[in-house]
Amino acid sequence: MDLPSTTRITVKPTGASLAADVIGIDLTQPMDEATFKQIEDAWYQYLVLRFRDQHLDDPRFLAFARRFGELDKAPIHAGKDVVNPYPEITVMSNIKVDGKAIGNLGHYEAEWHTDMSYNELTPIGSLLYSIEVPPAGGNTGFANMYEAYDTLPAELKRTIVSLQCRHDSSRNSAGELRKGFKDISDPREAPGAIHPLIRTHPATRRNALYLGRRRNAYIIGLPLDESEDLLNKLWAHASQEKFAWYQEWKVGDLIMWDNRCAMHRRDAFDPESRRLMHRTQIKGDKPFFDPATVAA
Ligand code: OGA
Ligand code: MN
Repeated sequence: MDLPSTTRITVKPTGASLAADVIGIDLTQPMDEATFKQIEDAWYQYLVLRFRDQHLDDPRFLAFARRFGELDKAPIHAGKDVVNPYPEITVMSNIKVDGKAIGNLGHYEAEWHTDMSYNELTPIGSLLYSIEVPPAGGNTGFANMYEAYDTLPAELKRTIVSLQCRHDSSRNSAGELRKGFKDISDPREAPGAIHPLIRTHPATRRNALYLGRRRNAYIIGLPLDESEDLLNKLWAHASQEKFAWYQEWKVGDLIMWDNRCAMHRRDAFDPESRRLMHRTQIKGDKPFFDPATVAA
């Protein structure tokens, strides 16, 4: 009797601009296609899904994530091989063992970003599972970039329709310079991939404002001051609280976000407390804008 059966799941929206809880599912159990489809549809509708009270080990975590597509290998970082034998798992943590960080991002604030937007192919989504959480701080914010796009003034939409932005690859989302990269101060010299400012979601066909990360961003072809002015305007719009929802972590929470239409950020927390999460990312596609999605 261990055939997967259809589970009655409940999808409960947070009431904010994005995110919903998926209730009534144990992700360690086999899942049939109909249940998976319900989850995928909810993901497209709410951009961020939360599954609470899960008890996932790495193999089961990866098995669930693989339903959505092939997984990326974790980027190289300190301690990876020591701590986790699964190449698709990235450890996000401030914990140190023998003075060595076992994971990424430390205890720092991470500013609004989409993951790996500085690559040509960017993960379509990420899953983050909490194993240890600090008593306070370390909340993760998510923001709905479909709504950010939809609510832009018409004139601004027209301005950005044919524009592309370069996404700086030299620093991580906590602002730290990556190994082997030059510390640049002129955004025109930043390394990284170039993507359209408006991104069409391949499944929903909706358009999202695609900003990636603010630091050292540059809009191709514009004089630097115009690029800065336009980016400041777009960022001021996109980072309004009305587009955001914050996750306050409990142990056993699994959050998955659609990296094509949601940005995220993280609050700092007390470096003396421990936070440990495992993350996996669904292999990327190339961001594109489909002009047929906007009326002439
Ligand atoms: C990430 C990330 C935020 C967090 O995993 O890409 O930004 O809350 N994490 O740890
Ligand atoms: Mn991130």
